Amino acid sequence: MATVLLAGGAGYIGSHTAVELLNAGYDVVVADNYSNSSPEAIRRVEKITGKSVKLYEADVRDTAKLTEIFSANKIDAVIHFAGLKAVGESVQKPLMYYRNNIDTTLSLLEVMAEFGVKNVIFSSSATVYGEENPIPYIETMKRGTCSNPYGWTKAMMEQIFEDAAKADTDLSVVLLRYFNPIGAHPTGMIGEDPCGIPNNLMPFITQVAVGKRDHLTVFGNDYPTPDGTCRRDYIHVVDLAVGHVKATDYVLGHKGVEVFNLGTGTPYSVKEIVEAFERVNGVPVKYEFGARRFGDLPEFYANADKAAEILGWTTQYTLDDMCRDSWNWQKNNPNGYRD
Ligand code: NAD
Ligand code: WQD
Repeated sequence: MATVLLAGGAGYIGSHTAVELLNAGYDVVVADNYSNSSPEAIRRVEKITGKSVKLYEADVRDTAKLTEIFSANKIDAVIHFAGLKAVGESVQKPLMYYRNNIDTTLSLLEVMAEFGVKNVIFSSSATVYGEENPIPYIETMKRGTCSNPYGWTKAMMEQIFEDAAKADTDLSVVLLRYFNPIGAHPTGMIGEDPCGIPNNLMPFITQVAVGKRDHLTVFGNDYPTPDGTCRRDYIHVVDLAVGHVKATDYVLGHKGVEVFNLGTGTPYSVKEIVEAFERVNGVPVKYEFGARRFGDLPEFYANADKAAEILGWTTQYTLDDMCRDSWNWQKNNPNGYRD
């Protein structure tokens, strides 16, 4: 079976993808510098699957270290998760974001070329559709204007992959545009483990529910949406991980660049998420309405038809599953992997 290198594989989406790749029979190698993760996640992946992962502590920008990894393992495909992802922080520290995110991509592509590795999947984001595209987003739309440096790094990296594939027609690239991943593995053993104050909605909700934060501030209730709060396409992280297995099957048998949205196609509002979380888990989540957050769009969601048609991938988990599994992870691991 083929071997897949997960760059940034100890993180939230990478660790869940490792589980699904191992379950599908792939061998997995992980390279991560733990700037936003812990090796404990990979130990738990091994417990869940009963299989072993070759784990390297490595900065993916470091081409010498990558050369060591590619020399020691016959890598068939790379999934590039490694990146900084906090939108607000990217506004404060744009150079750090451009340096880390772009350089990881360049180093990976350079070392892949050196070793003749032709297959790569990239963690892109719905954010590249920018501000001007109508909803639902479909892959044939042009990339738009991003509201922050994080989003621009994703748009630029998509461009870098496209140019690399033009120059090397043997390259097979899959760009996966994730919508809003939430939830955790149903075992409650791996999940999202944000450092400090969470930026994203679901980890904030779970930390309020577990008593670590007093209340959630809902950013704006005067949007042109049915209940006035923003709507997003939330997707269970295990569905997203299975999407990576399908993309791996695909990338190994193709050439050129393909883009896929990974979302459910159904938007839910912030208010609906809070209400579902309270109902499913029987725990209160105190919240207050506050000002709009700069850069937030009222609503976006995926047209997910292309992934269904070409990858044979559709989502299986409901919003209730996402709320249940997020809470299961948080209450079993109140301090994340530090427990
Ligand atoms: P995460 O922070 O949990 O995982 C990213 C991993 O990359 C972490 O383990 C981190 O330590 C590692 N990393 C960062 N820079 C590195 C470097 N230079 N060398 C080695 N490792 C490095 O985030 P995630 O939610 O799992 O996201 C994975 C990818 O998907 C990211 O590229 C992110 O931008 C993208 N993405 C995430 C979301 C989301 O909402 N979670 C949405 C769209 C796209
Ligand atoms: C969801 C909704 C907030 C926190 C971000 C990135 C995007 C992608 C996914 C990586 C919004 C509201 C949130 C809070 C709130 N990441 N909210 N109170 O902004 O849709 O997308 O993560 O690529 O690029 O921008 O996700 O989870 O931050 O917010 O009311 O304390 O929850 O306003 O409507 P977002 P999010």
